[in-house]
Amino acid sequence: MKPFIVPGSGGRHLVEGIAGILGVRARPLAVETFPDGELRPRVGALHGGDVYLVAPTCPPVNERLVELLLLLDACRRAGADRVTAVVPYLGYARQDRRAVAGEALGARAVIDAMRATGAQRLVVLDPHSRAVEAMSAVPVETLTAVPLLAAALAGSPEDTVVVAPDLGAVKSAERLGELLRHPVAVVRKTRTSGSSVRALDLVGEVRDRRAVIVDDMISTGATIAAAAELLVAAGARPEVTVAATHGPLTADAIPVLRSAGVRRLLVTDSVPAVAEHPSWVEVRSVVPLLADAIHLLHRNTSV
Ligand code: R5P
Repeated sequence: MKPFIVPGSGGRHLVEGIAGILGVRARPLAVETFPDGELRPRVGALHGGDVYLVAPTCPPVNERLVELLLLLDACRRAGADRVTAVVPYLGYARQDRRAVAGEALGARAVIDAMRATGAQRLVVLDPHSRAVEAMSAVPVETLTAVPLLAAALAGSPEDTVVVAPDLGAVKSAERLGELLRHPVAVVRKTRTSGSSVRALDLVGEVRDRRAVIVDDMISTGATIAAAAELLVAAGARPEVTVAATHGPLTADAIPVLRSAGVRRLLVTDSVPAVAEHPSWVEVRSVVPLLADAIHLLHRNTSV
């Protein structure tokens, strides 16, 4: 039997392409919203199916998350044999530790809820933290878009330096630096609120170099802007390139990045674009990557 591809609302832009590569038709999704805001998603019959629910929990994060939980339950009750939640962008993944007493471990709570509602396996793409895998009682397949971003940056000049804008991005920067054969620099940052950060200092040689900043995601653009400003102040060339897997960009992110000196931004389509991008923003598709992972999992092969 072929895999069943079911979209969540945040994954509608991905499923046609995935289904096309796999030679199947994506299953329909209907979502009704009640006057009080409750969601009522419906999937068709899935009897005996190996179901892949493609549902990034991108903004509006809480709505997408509740929809995903309801869909997982719906898939199970519709007779699915096996349900895999394909969540390329995993909202709440940044809450992978308690920064101060009294906070929740948001990432853990979200993953537990997915399991409780029927997810038998998760597929995630460049989650904020690899700790996601250790937190999950069901198997997690972690994909990365770094090679895809590297391919888009192939041929970058020799004087390029790959920069991690915070310590969490060091692994991705090392991987990108290795693929492109460029040195790596690291910025140390501190977050002062949800939308403001401070770049504290820099390790690595950036003077007269072209910086490519790499991160898992861009939300407000504050992390990238702080890093870009620090790099230019440290003598890097003023035109900065940014490569990030996820671009759940808030309304102000584009102007924030531009005024910090970003001249080229690469993101993937792991989340749907909410507005038309300016010409200096390029979007690379993760559809082939997701289709390949689903193909392998459906054949019970390791990803
Ligand atoms: C945090 O550590 C993440 O890796 C990103 O750097 C951060 O979440 C991006 O958010 P913003 O664009 O709002 O700074």
